[in-house]
Amino acid sequence: MEIIDGKLLSEQVKAEIAESVKNMIATGQRQPHLAAVLVGEDPASQVYVRNKVRSCEQVGFKSTLIRKSAEITEVELLDIVNNLNKDEDIDGFIVQLPLPGHINEEKITLAISPAKDVDGFHPVNFGRMAQGMPCYLPATPAGILEMLKRYNIPTSGKEVVVVGRSNIVGTPISILLSRKQEIGNATVTLCHSRTRNLEEHTRRADILIASIGRANQITGDMVKEGVVVIDVGINRVDDASAKRGYRLTGDVDFESVAPKASYITPVPGGVGPMTVVSLLLNTLKSRVERIY
Ligand code: GUN
Repeated sequence: MEIIDGKLLSEQVKAEIAESVKNMIATGQRQPHLAAVLVGEDPASQVYVRNKVRSCEQVGFKSTLIRKSAEITEVELLDIVNNLNKDEDIDGFIVQLPLPGHINEEKITLAISPAKDVDGFHPVNFGRMAQGMPCYLPATPAGILEMLKRYNIPTSGKEVVVVGRSNIVGTPISILLSRKQEIGNATVTLCHSRTRNLEEHTRRADILIASIGRANQITGDMVKEGVVVIDVGINRVDDASAKRGYRLTGDVDFESVAPKASYITPVPGGVGPMTVVSLLLNTLKSRVERIY
C-alpha cells in the first residue's frame, strides 16, 4: 500500500508555479492576481480561504481578500462580483461557498464572468469541460487528475466508482474520467444516496472516489484488494484528546480500507492541498493563456 502524498505533491507543483511567476516578473510581466470573497464567519470557510491566500503568497501571486459580514445583501454581493469582473488587475476570483441562506448561490455563481471563474463553477465552464473544450476545471476534480497523473496510476479501461454527485466534485470527476483524454477513458459508475446495494458497486472499483460528506462511510468490506482510493471528504469529528476538540477525517474508514488498497489518499494531506494548487493553476492559466 502506498500513500498518495497530496501535501508533498502540492509543494512540488507550487514550486513549479513559483518558478513561472519568477520568470514572468523577471521579464517585466505583471504577476497573477487572485481575489477571494468571504462572507460571514463559517469556521471551515475561514480556514479554506486563509489557505488559499497563504498559497498565493507562497508562489508569488498577488491576492486580495474581501471580507463581508453575513448581513450583506444579495444586491451588494452582486455589486462586488460585477466590480471584480471588470477589474483588469484581477485574473480570477472566487466567492467562497456556502453563502448565508438569504443569498441565492446560483445567482452569484451565474454572475461571475466565466473568464474569471477560476473555481470552474459557472455552467459555461462546466459545459466546456463536459465537451473537452478549453475551460477552467473545478479545483477538486482537477487536483484528483493531477494526483493520478503524477503517481502514474492508469485510468484507461479501468472501473471507476464515484460516490457522491455534487456539482463541484462527484458529477464533474465522473465526466472527466470517462472522457477520451490522457487521464480518462475509464468506465465510470456514479453512485449516490438513492443507489441500491452501494457495496456491490464499490467492490467492483479499480479506482474508488469517495465524495459523500460523511465520516468513515466506506469500510474495508466494501472494497476489493488492490483498489486505488481517493478520499475527498473533510469531516470534523469530536475528539476530546485533540487540541481543538475535534479532528478531521475522510469519508473513508482509513484503518479498514488502507490495508486492502494499492494507493490511498490520507485526510488531511491528500486531496485538500491539491485542490488549492488547482486554483493557483487556473489563476496562472487565466493570466497566461486568456482562454476567453
Ligand atoms: N466551498 C467548498 N469548497 C469550495 C471551493 O472549492 N470553492 C468555493 N468557492 N467554495 C467552496
